[in-house]
Amino acid sequence: MGEPAALLVEHAAELTTLAGPPGARRGRAQGEVGAVADGAVAVSADGRILAAGPTEAVRAALRLGPGARVIDASGRAVLPGFVDAHTHAVFAGDRVDEFELRLRGADYLEILAAGGGILSTVRATRAASAEALAARTAGFLESMLLLGATTVEIKSGYGLSTAEELKQLGVVRALRGRVPHTLVATLLAAHALPPEHRDAPDGYVRLVCEETIPAAAAAGLAGFCDVFCERGVFSVEQSRRVLRAGLAHGLRPKLHAEQKSRSGGAGLAAELGAASADHLEYAEEEDLVGLAAAGTVAVLLPGAALMLREERVAPARRMVELGVPVALATDFNPGTCPIRSVPVVIGLACLRLGLSPAEALVAATINAACAIGLGDEVGSLEPGKRADLLVLDAPSYRHIPYQLATNLVRTVVKDGRVVVEDGRRVDGAGVAC
Ligand code: NIG
Ligand code: FE
Repeated sequence: MGEPAALLVEHAAELTTLAGPPGARRGRAQGEVGAVADGAVAVSADGRILAAGPTEAVRAALRLGPGARVIDASGRAVLPGFVDAHTHAVFAGDRVDEFELRLRGADYLEILAAGGGILSTVRATRAASAEALAARTAGFLESMLLLGATTVEIKSGYGLSTAEELKQLGVVRALRGRVPHTLVATLLAAHALPPEHRDAPDGYVRLVCEETIPAAAAAGLAGFCDVFCERGVFSVEQSRRVLRAGLAHGLRPKLHAEQKSRSGGAGLAAELGAASADHLEYAEEEDLVGLAAAGTVAVLLPGAALMLREERVAPARRMVELGVPVALATDFNPGTCPIRSVPVVIGLACLRLGLSPAEALVAATINAACAIGLGDEVGSLEPGKRADLLVLDAPSYRHIPYQLATNLVRTVVKDGRVVVEDGRRVDGAGVAC
């Protein structure tokens, strides 16, 4: 008997551990959730998983520490906390007017070309103080936690100058420790062309490569570099320059690729061995073959496609068949996706992309973790990993897509602390750690 447990969640009707070999799951493994009946998870005082498996076996192998808390999950499902691998959660203002324009037929990229869309959020975000942005983002993260997201990636991209991009990334840094989530920051300085560089796009690309990326990397503010590679936004050639500069400064590449047209981003992601290629509605067979060979994770964002009323769906089934690891994320942002619920995205992935509930669960946990470089830390309930887990008001994770838009998350444990109980936020209450 090793380290004593500070927390034991036991007798879950169904425990899905998502245990498996290291790395993102693809092909058949995309649907393997590691389901255990009458399951238990034991957690150390420092918030790491000691054991996960059948209650009897976990009980037999451990001793409870003094003051340990025991949660009876009878009749309920226990699963890893969700990993939201793609958000733009630092912003000011809203775009409800644009939403209505789009409902009346306006085009997202045309709104951007006319100086609205992303650029209207840039104006609002530049005008906001870092403190005001942090307070707003903390509020978003609170609601995401209630919906089960314990790890969240956040991109910059509403600053579009070195100082303003660093301000946004600084908000993410300031929030670490202030919110329970594990936060990952991505530099997305190449999100749109700022108005100051309207007539000289290459000048902005040069600024991003020579100033913004080195500054963000030197300050340790981001782990990834992303580009919106799209017709009328940044070309493949410009995206390549930005991502290569990022790589030279230790930032792993990611791409917004093939979202509104087939613009070549997926091919570039494969060429650079990007951590992920995201969106991919317009990806074709050749793109998928390339992503599979590169081991790049496809991060699908069906919430954004829904909000943009995009009829074309990402070829998720073909991705699974070809061995592209598939992840899911919200893409939470004020323009294309104000949806901040991973459970709703899991439902959309089943209903619109044809993933099975098991494939969607893998996509929103371990594969999402791999897309942001945290596959060894979060995304599954395995010894040594962070104890991030959910208890649902349902006997199986399969109820998540089935009871679409109902929040089934009752309990959230983050780093071994109970942070949500009975669907309400508590602050580590009652946990010995
Ligand atoms: O992932 N398409 C580019 N970027 C975001 C949207 C950002 C915005 O519209 O504010 C996306 O959809
Ligand atoms: Fe995005």
